[in-house]
Amino acid sequence: MSFDRMWAELAPVGRAADGGYHRYTWAGADTDARAWFTGEAAARGLDVRTDRNGNLWAWWGGPGPGAVATGSHLDSVPDGGAFDGPLGVVSALAAVDELRARGVRPARPLVLAVFVEEEGGRFGVPCLGSRLTAGEISPERARGLADADGVTWAEAMAAAGHDPDLIGPDPDTLASLDVFVELHVEQGRALEDTVHPVGVASAIWPHGRWRMDFTGRADHAGTTRLADRNDPMLPFAHAVLAARAQAEEHGARATVARSVIVPNGTNAIPSLVSAWLDARADSEDTLTAVVEGVRARAEAAAREHGVGVAMTAESRTPLVSFAHGLRDRLAAVVGTRAPDPRVPVLPTGAGHDAGVLAAHVPTAMLYVRNPTGVSHSPKEWARPDDCHAGVLALADVLQDLLARPVGEVAP
Ligand code: GLV
Ligand code: MN
Ligand code: MN
Repeated sequence: MSFDRMWAELAPVGRAADGGYHRYTWAGADTDARAWFTGEAAARGLDVRTDRNGNLWAWWGGPGPGAVATGSHLDSVPDGGAFDGPLGVVSALAAVDELRARGVRPARPLVLAVFVEEEGGRFGVPCLGSRLTAGEISPERARGLADADGVTWAEAMAAAGHDPDLIGPDPDTLASLDVFVELHVEQGRALEDTVHPVGVASAIWPHGRWRMDFTGRADHAGTTRLADRNDPMLPFAHAVLAARAQAEEHGARATVARSVIVPNGTNAIPSLVSAWLDARADSEDTLTAVVEGVRARAEAAAREHGVGVAMTAESRTPLVSFAHGLRDRLAAVVGTRAPDPRVPVLPTGAGHDAGVLAAHVPTAMLYVRNPTGVSHSPKEWARPDDCHAGVLALADVLQDLLARPVGEVAP
């Protein structure tokens, strides 16, 4: 299967010595991975275009209306895994090979998409490419998003040879899509306890990112009396513990995994701690309750320690319930090749471009079994046989959709 050659070729791109991936939008390895995709698509005679927001689209037939779309992303979280994103991209290319080997001649366009900045690993807002295309973030805000070095999206995009003045909603591209299917590595281990190498998505939990800025007063660690301190580390620590407590209380997920401490000296009380809360829950109300619980604790602790606190939502993605008709159709098609026709249909707490597109285009997802469930880590893995099963499942699904009349996908 062509999957293996492509997987081996892409594997070293952006991989550090410890096996973790560092592919950040508009920079070295991510650019190399995009170039690799463009080369593979062009070698297949696909017409590759970069849209106004930097997403890549490789067309087999078209560009034109009624397209069946598939794809994922190539950027990674810091020290990420090989599969989150690239599995969907490489499987899409391999599915084209599989369809051609089967002699399929699509009566309407098939398009492979690579969305930019899905992880928000450089500029902070996840699914930025699909959000821009869907009009769910303003171009002004996106242009001003800055990375850890203060380089803005606009500057980085311009340096990569794209015009940041052109970014924004792309209703024409969206209107050309009849359906979008994203294949992704499973980010949990529900499939491992089954006979199924491939599952289908039911829903994505509502989730978001909140920035918390704790503003204190820098001073000497050795000489400043405890009573005289305005130490932002203390309410920050309360907020971290509150995130855990709120998640436990509400059956949700809440994580503080990123912080910036200023000036970050061992013997200086900080003047500022910025930290990011990642929160996810099975309903909007629960998500709000978790975030408000963290906010209340952070504010109370900040008051107690004479520290300022500001909490700002950087992104919030509502509950996504994938179109039931399409979801059931995928499950039926995948079931024809599965060891058991009752293919698992699974919710996830992970965000995806498919979740953003779902509000605009009938959208579905396939998950490839992950034996450990580990993701966003160098240890993320899927068995080669399961990856092959994913390619075949995707090819089956695409073939099925391509053979149906445009607009027939049930809601
Ligand atoms: C993306 O992978 C996310 O859910 O954070
Ligand atoms: Mn991810
Ligand atoms: Mn992903």
